[in-house]
Amino acid sequence: MPIFPNNIAQAADKVVTQADADRLFVLTDEHTHDLCLPLLSSVRSLNNAQHITIGATDIHKDIASLTHVWQQLVQGGATRHSLLLCLGGGMVTDLGGFAASTFKRGIRYVNIPTTLLAMVDAAVGGKTGINFCGLKNEVGVFSEAMEVIISTDFLRTLDAENLRSGYAEMLKHALLSSESLLSQHLGFDLAAPNLNRLQELVCLSVDIKSRIVESDPHERGLRKALNLGHTIGHAFESMAMEKGRPILHGYAVAYGLACELWLSTQLKGFPQSAMRQVATFVRNFYGRAAITCDDYEHLYELMSHDKKNVAGQINFALLSKVGKVELDCHASKDLIFESLDFMREGL
Ligand SMILES: NC(=O)c1ccc[n+]([C@@H]2O[C@H](COP(=O)([O-])OP(=O)(O)OC[C@H]3O[C@@H](n4cnc5c(N)ncnc54)[C@H](O)[C@@H]3O)[C@@H](O)[C@H]2O)c1
Ligand SMILES: [Zn+2]
Repeated sequence: MPIFPNNIAQAADKVVTQADADRLFVLTDEHTHDLCLPLLSSVRSLNNAQHITIGATDIHKDIASLTHVWQQLVQGGATRHSLLLCLGGGMVTDLGGFAASTFKRGIRYVNIPTTLLAMVDAAVGGKTGINFCGLKNEVGVFSEAMEVIISTDFLRTLDAENLRSGYAEMLKHALLSSESLLSQHLGFDLAAPNLNRLQELVCLSVDIKSRIVESDPHERGLRKALNLGHTIGHAFESMAMEKGRPILHGYAVAYGLACELWLSTQLKGFPQSAMRQVATFVRNFYGRAAITCDDYEHLYELMSHDKKNVAGQINFALLSKVGKVELDCHASKDLIFESLDFMREGL
């Protein structure tokens, strides 16, 4: 389980000191180098750390950045007893974790996530990798960080859209957990976020993901629960990309959650009231997916190509109630289209 310190600099100092590494490297992207590294300026154990910086955003989660990190490790004299600290969003923790796990057959790395999405999702759970040949996360390994240190202090500089994007994964975790946690999440004011309160909710959210991952580290069963909202969400994300108007992952997940909860009411008896509460929250903070009924066939085709499908059937994780997931569910094409109607016009 990650560490949730009150004082990020002190916590980082302790983790780095205890690691007793022969050489230290800090990986950032060009934004987190400027905006997040200063929060660690008082960490004495990092005084002699060597800095590696790569370009920001997912287009740089590629083989060229990976090669750059490996080169910097070689030139900086890294050995198997060195430590890489990944300070950034999911792009940096995914690529940094992969670089560390493959360098000299694996050196230790610590994640300090700086986006909400990385805090509740990317930085925990041990999935690392890069995009390759135009395919997302095509090459990578499962490899756990030595430690993950989470502080919402970093979120002061994060834009509202990226904050909302990460929050969608928190909503998903709450739905997989309990009614009480869901109502706490629906009660949070995303328009004027209180970062101390958010730190508490992040802690609860990470706990839910960690438990699911622990029970199924290689995604053979229960971890599929984390796909809630993602079957339809990924189709929205891909279509937006194709239209040249990309949307953040969490926005696509939020729309996907609204659709898949609607499917859950139809197929699994999920309560209408909870579904409407979540759909209203999504409408208020994420708006509506920019689709028309002319897009339905193509969205369906995109869902049919999801790599998580089995035997050509579109696979959903649905809920029979809050906290009770049903894996490997199927829905007719008509019902999926109705769920898209609900997303566009419902409520
Ligand atoms: N490994 C996993 O299990 C897992 C899970 C979910 C997502 N991911 C991956 O995570 C990546 C997306 O992560 P992300 O949403 O964090 O994107 P990101 O890392 O690209 O960060 C988004 C933007 O925010 C900037 N940024 C980061 N921290 C900031 C801060 N504190 N203040 C201001 N700006 C800041 C970044 O420089 C970037 O421009 C994708 O590559 C995705 O595949 C991995
Ligand atoms: Zn996701």
